[in-house]
Amino acid sequence: MIKFGIIGTNWITKQFIEAAQSIGWRLTSVYSRKIATAQQFAGQFGTTVNTYTDLPAFFDQGDFSVVYIASPNSLHFSQSQQALQAGKNVIVEKPSCSNPTEMKAIVKLLRQNPSLYYFEAARHFHEPLFKKVAQQIRKFAIIQGANLTYMKYSSRYDEFLAGAEPNVFSLDFSGGALQDLGVYLVYNAISWFGYPHQAIYYPQKLRNGIDGSGTAILTYPEFKVVLNLGKTANSYLPSEVYGLKETLLLDNPAELNKLTLMDELHQSQQIAAALPENPMLAEVRDFNEILLAPDKLSSKQQMEDWLAVSVQVNQLLAQLRHSAGITFPADEIAEV
Ligand SMILES: NC(=O)c1ccc[n+]([C@@H]2O[C@H](COP(=O)([O-])OP(=O)(O)OC[C@H]3O[C@@H](n4cnc5c(N)ncnc54)[C@H](OP(=O)(O)O)[C@@H]3O)[C@@H](O)[C@H]2O)c1
Repeated sequence: MIKFGIIGTNWITKQFIEAAQSIGWRLTSVYSRKIATAQQFAGQFGTTVNTYTDLPAFFDQGDFSVVYIASPNSLHFSQSQQALQAGKNVIVEKPSCSNPTEMKAIVKLLRQNPSLYYFEAARHFHEPLFKKVAQQIRKFAIIQGANLTYMKYSSRYDEFLAGAEPNVFSLDFSGGALQDLGVYLVYNAISWFGYPHQAIYYPQKLRNGIDGSGTAILTYPEFKVVLNLGKTANSYLPSEVYGLKETLLLDNPAELNKLTLMDELHQSQQIAAALPENPMLAEVRDFNEILLAPDKLSSKQQMEDWLAVSVQVNQLLAQLRHSAGITFPADEIAEV
């Protein structure tokens, strides 16, 4: 049975815990900045959960082999680093690092500790429908591009409009629409089409310079992929991948529920639909399979394959940000 600890006490951690517990994992340790928060959060999941407000103590004394990190983005790197140094496997929320310098340091640490596992929690990447899209695209004789849209109004935008600076709309915390929602679309593009030859981001910047929404154009030798992303408005548009006379329709590229193929006669055929379940179950099942067989060569290889995608996603996010002049304090620290 896998014992795990958590960092971050927001709703996403609760969703992760529910998914993990449903396949038999045991929550043993909760870290929070405040003891009252840690105790209240831990209390929802049983009486045998230990609580910590000191991160080194959490890693040194916590009885767990894997930590799930769902803190603000800018903290992912240092917390993952501390976890790996303490001999813990890591599941870290997307985006796993703020920039390629941090990512390189993580990869270096993994090379120094080859028995440890590190996963970026890109939940949609592990879903069966994500793979179905890839299979369908491979069947297209030619690809003529894609239009992918993921725009959801954030409740935190209300706080921003009221004058506050929530973490997700903060440069200090490596936030912004590209990092938060764009990361899903970047995963899609890299997984389905590869790394683009050129990548430019046209953000709509908010009063503090963070991107509230934006459009990224990824150029491939034979086509373009357009990413529309945002946290300041809702979009109900489906996304599309273009073959020659066929078009693949995705109801939502980051919350895939339905895939439809439109053929050359304009006939639609539903080729897949998702089962209603905890959105984090697919990734948790994947991580579970590996963590239960950590010494198997195939487990190592699988982590390396996912890590290679994470590294490319991290690289492309940085490239897009830099094309739009968006710099995080984490970038300056990382250069030192
Ligand atoms: N996979 C998904 O579907 C999904 C969905 C939502 C979010 N996420 C990811 O999950 C992560 C957390 O997102 P979130 O919206 O939950 O973030 P958040 O509310 O800003 O912070 C998450 C947790 O981090 C701690 N925290 C907050 N402010 C902090 C600060 N200034 N310094 C140190 N710790 C702080 C808090 O825990 P304590 O008060 O207990 O310390 C809080 O519960 C992000 O990386 C995001 O991208 C993923």
